[in-house]
Amino acid sequence: MKKSDKIWMDGKFINWDDAKVHVLTHALHYGSSIFEGIRCYNTNKGPAVFRLEEHVKRFFESCKIYRMELSYAEKEIKEAILNTIRINRLKNCYIRPLAFRGYGEMGLNPLNSPVYVMIAAWEWGRYLGEDALEKGIRVKTSSWNRMAPNTFPFLAKAGGNYLNSQLAKMEAVLDGYDEAVMLDIDGYVAEGSGENIFLIKDRVLYTPPVYSAILKGITRDFVIKTAREMRYSVREERIPREMLYTVDEIFLVGTAAEITPIKEIDHYPLKENKITKKIQDKFFKVIEECDPKYLTPV
Ligand SMILES: Cc1ncc(COP(=O)(O)O)c(C=O)c1O
Repeated sequence: MKKSDKIWMDGKFINWDDAKVHVLTHALHYGSSIFEGIRCYNTNKGPAVFRLEEHVKRFFESCKIYRMELSYAEKEIKEAILNTIRINRLKNCYIRPLAFRGYGEMGLNPLNSPVYVMIAAWEWGRYLGEDALEKGIRVKTSSWNRMAPNTFPFLAKAGGNYLNSQLAKMEAVLDGYDEAVMLDIDGYVAEGSGENIFLIKDRVLYTPPVYSAILKGITRDFVIKTAREMRYSVREERIPREMLYTVDEIFLVGTAAEITPIKEIDHYPLKENKITKKIQDKFFKVIEECDPKYLTPV
């Protein structure tokens, strides 16, 4: 990864190489961390953050689910994110706020371990490869399912959840694919290892509902709103796996992956990406023009 100069750690800017934690940090042992992934773009009006408000809100909601009390208000975290971009003089970057249970007490009860917050930002290009946005990617349905509803809360963007994503991602990559699509516990389509999914059939967009064990993505929300504004009908409903093989287009969405078409799934080729391309163009237009509805100038 490309280093920046400074990382924000609980109110102070620390040199990148000095931003360290103790090996007995609770989160290292038990996965007790909450994070966000946010992007800043160099728009026509200068650097601006995509959906800052929504990301910070989800960060606080995830913390609340895990009873992690932060010593900061949402406004302070937003300001700290903007300051992290400013101090590192970044224009196009990825931003990673993380709240974690630190060094304090070992054992499963996390309530006696202090909660720390850090924010890093660095230049990060195309998550799924340089050609992915234009040419599309190859994916496979994972043999790993997403978690059952009464196991890990999937609405929380918690570090521990990503062990499940890592199993799916490793399997896909080792089998020669770019990404995995995971099914929920009942065998319905859920999402990618770090992206939400949309299918298009006869000009109608389909995306799994929140109860299909997905992270309620902020890019997903943008796509639902934008596609409806573009007069497409969008249905949030359970999607049987085999529908992946009969639709016209499929694409993945997320902060890291942006809007990435799928060109092949489980060796079934997808020949089209016309509507995907229109939505992708709209996404980048909104960013380029720094639409105040979605972007916060740095
Ligand atoms: C598991 C998972 N699903 C979906 C998404 C997409 O969410 P967002 O658009 O908010 O980045 C992400 C990325 O954060 C993710 O990790």
